Amino acid sequence: TIVPVILSGGSGTRLWPMSTPAMPKQMLALTSDETMLQLTARRAQGARFRAPIVVANAKHAAMVEEQLEAASATADALILEPIGRNTAPAIALAAIAAGSGDAALLIMPSDHVILDVPAFHAAIEAALPLVQQGWLVTFGIDPHAPETGYGYIHMGEKLATGVHRVAKFVEKPPRDAAEAMLAAGDHAWNGGIFLFRADSYLEALAQHDPETLTACKASMENARHEGKRIYPEAEAFAASPAESIDYAVMEKAERVAVVPVKMGWSDLGSWDALQDISERDAAGNSHQGEVIAIDTTNCLVRSDGVRIAMVGVDNLIVVASGNDILILPSGRSQEVKALIEAMKKK
Ligand code: GDD
Ligand code: MG
Repeated sequence: TIVPVILSGGSGTRLWPMSTPAMPKQMLALTSDETMLQLTARRAQGARFRAPIVVANAKHAAMVEEQLEAASATADALILEPIGRNTAPAIALAAIAAGSGDAALLIMPSDHVILDVPAFHAAIEAALPLVQQGWLVTFGIDPHAPETGYGYIHMGEKLATGVHRVAKFVEKPPRDAAEAMLAAGDHAWNGGIFLFRADSYLEALAQHDPETLTACKASMENARHEGKRIYPEAEAFAASPAESIDYAVMEKAERVAVVPVKMGWSDLGSWDALQDISERDAAGNSHQGEVIAIDTTNCLVRSDGVRIAMVGVDNLIVVASGNDILILPSGRSQEVKALIEAMKKK
């Protein structure tokens, strides 16, 4: 059986104003009636899977529990971090909590879209034999642009049906390197979803990032348990370096494999990404909330309260949440980051 591990610690500021530190992207219903967290839990349900281990920030504990319960996916363990230390330690906590080393952990970010779940499950099946042999497996996405926010995987020789050795793993390359890898044609994006045995990960961590392992072990030895909630000891955990699994382990480890998979994946990294995958009406619009639009085309409109009325516009993204309204032309949503910086200075 497979133990799903759901990472829910990110704050996802690029979907401001809906996503905020108090209500991050994974807690929002962006693509359906269910939140990203609920959809993530659902895609690892069934005979193959045990109840998930969820790693989240302590301040979101109640919200995470409520959402999982509503999706009939109550966590087996809810590990509550006192502070965010990035993904290498978060995954270490889960690997330690899993108990038995031979448990296969399916690491899933809580904020991704996967439209074709059967394709995802087939990729997991293809990976399992190598996972049992100690390989660290990641899932490869067909790249279509020289994005600099993703990891890139140079695919090497075939190891089994649908599985390749990772010849090289490059996390978040600069633009020119991303362009070169895209042009080479034998690279995939790292989907940020991983499958490995708990002991394989902990061994790789011992070798490449021992400080993180020591800190996480100490914080779990002295953890406080409250029902399904686990609170790692704060001081020990704070001593861990804050590094992602990609930099700390995947770029350095030897036995790393990739399963390329077409599964309608998106990490919803921007409002444009949401517009790309949203269903549109005949005029090319995608509305949620109270929206009245006349002679309006190709707009993404979201409101969690106020009424939005529009006439004669094309190609806009309009998002209203609480006291904030965001308006921008499609194609420029990467600049939300700059907006947030500008607002901080005000
Ligand atoms: N529990 C916990 N604690 N979760 C965390 C923490 C943390 O400190 N930091 C991040 N996460 C969660 C996020 O909520 C997200 O679901 C997931 O871990 C990945 O973190 P991101 O911060 O979103 O990573 P990224 O998008 O920059 O990069 C990763 O994903 C890309 C694909 O979307 C990398 O794996 C890239 O290589 C990959 O291409
Ligand atoms: Mg991400």
